[in-house]
This record gives sequence, structure tokens and C-alpha cells, in this order.
Amino acid sequence: MNGKHGLVLALKDGSQVPYVTNGAYADVFMDQQGAKVYKLFISEPEGGLRQTPKATLDAIRRDNFTTQIEAYRIAGSDAFLAAHVPQFLGLAEVASVHDATGQDVSHEYHIPCCYILQRLEGRDEKLDPLADDAPEHIKTFVKRCKALGITYVHDASVFGRSDPEHFKVIDFATREIEMPW
Ligand SMILES: Nc1ncnc2c1ncn2[C@@H]1O[C@H](COP(=O)(O)OP(=O)(O)O)[C@@H](O)[C@H]1O
Ligand SMILES: [Mg+2]
Repeated sequence: MNGKHGLVLALKDGSQVPYVTNGAYADVFMDQQGAKVYKLFISEPEGGLRQTPKATLDAIRRDNFTTQIEAYRIAGSDAFLAAHVPQFLGLAEVASVHDATGQDVSHEYHIPCCYILQRLEGRDEKLDPLADDAPEHIKTFVKRCKALGITYVHDASVFGRSDPEHFKVIDFATREIEMPW
């Protein structure tokens, strides 16, 4: 549990999706059925310590969102990759985000930058395709990604890393977006 516990994503259709976890660039929400997750990109805090203007950082984060969506579209149209990524379920129509006390914290996010994925069960770990002990199927996955234009897999994570049949990878992009710090 962390300070984000109790956050709720409100969708335009009126449904409420509870917070489940976070990454470096996004907060992740999961529907009540445990079928879908919503990855919502975080906005740079106002008056942060960064040297770079907030507007620049925000543009970079939106770019990051776009390259991930492009990557899911590519992966979804390749039989091998599609079997090893969660199903991409489109963009979410987010109305707002509220904290546990009901306060609107939408300004902390890029509200239009939210995509929906099939929820994967279990725990994820780093893909780590260059590790000495990286399984052959992980190396094959990465080669196929690169061949199709999904060039950024450095930050990717994987569920079921040691299972050649059922492993599934998340958090990859068509290109690397460098943050200026
Ligand atoms: N499809 C999914 N199913 C289940 N959990 C997920 C899924 N996508 C993301 N998560 C969880 O959310 C965490 C953060 O997501 P991630 O895409 O890695 O965000 P970031 O780009 O901020 O690192 C993941 O490490 C994972 O635990
Ligand atoms: Mg991640």
C-alpha cells in the first residue's frame, strides 16, 4: 500500500475503477471483475525540481503514451507477438481521478492518455533479454519486436518469464523516449 491507495478512476460512462499499482510513468487501475487494467499516464508535478519546463516534460510523456499504443497495434497484428502480449482494448474515456478523500486529482495526470489492456494474472518481472540466463523464447520475442519496429523493450516486464507457451510482455514502445534528466 502507498499514498495512492484509494485512488479512483472515473470513466465518462459513470463507472469507477479502483487503483491497483503504479509504474514510473503511469498509475494502473483495475476493474472490479479483474478483467481489464487502465494505464493512465502521470503529469509532471507543478514546481518540481526539474530544470526542464513542465510543458516540455508533459509533451515527452504524451509521446511516450503514443509510442506504446503504436507498439500494441503492431504487436496485435503479428500472430506470434499477439500471443505474448495482453490484448489491447483501446483508449479509455476518462472523466476524472479522485483520491481516497474524494478530492479531484485529475490535474496530476494526462487524462486523455489512458489505454486499456487485458489484465494479466500473477507477478511481473523485468524482461531482461540480455541477461546471461535469458530464456531462448524471450530472445526470440525481442528479435521479432525489433524486426517489426518495436525497438524499445529495455523497460519491458513479463508475466510467466520462464514459460515459453504462456509468457506475456508489457511496457514496450516503438522507440525510446528519453527524459531529460
Ligand atoms: N496488463 C496488465 N495486467 C496486470 N498488471 C499490469 C498490466 N499492465 C501493467 N500492470 C502492472 O502495473 C505495473 C506498471 O505498469 P507499466 O506498464 O510497467 O508502467 P510504467 O510504464 O509506468 O512502468 C506493472 O509492473 C504491472 O505490475
Ligand atoms: Mg514498467
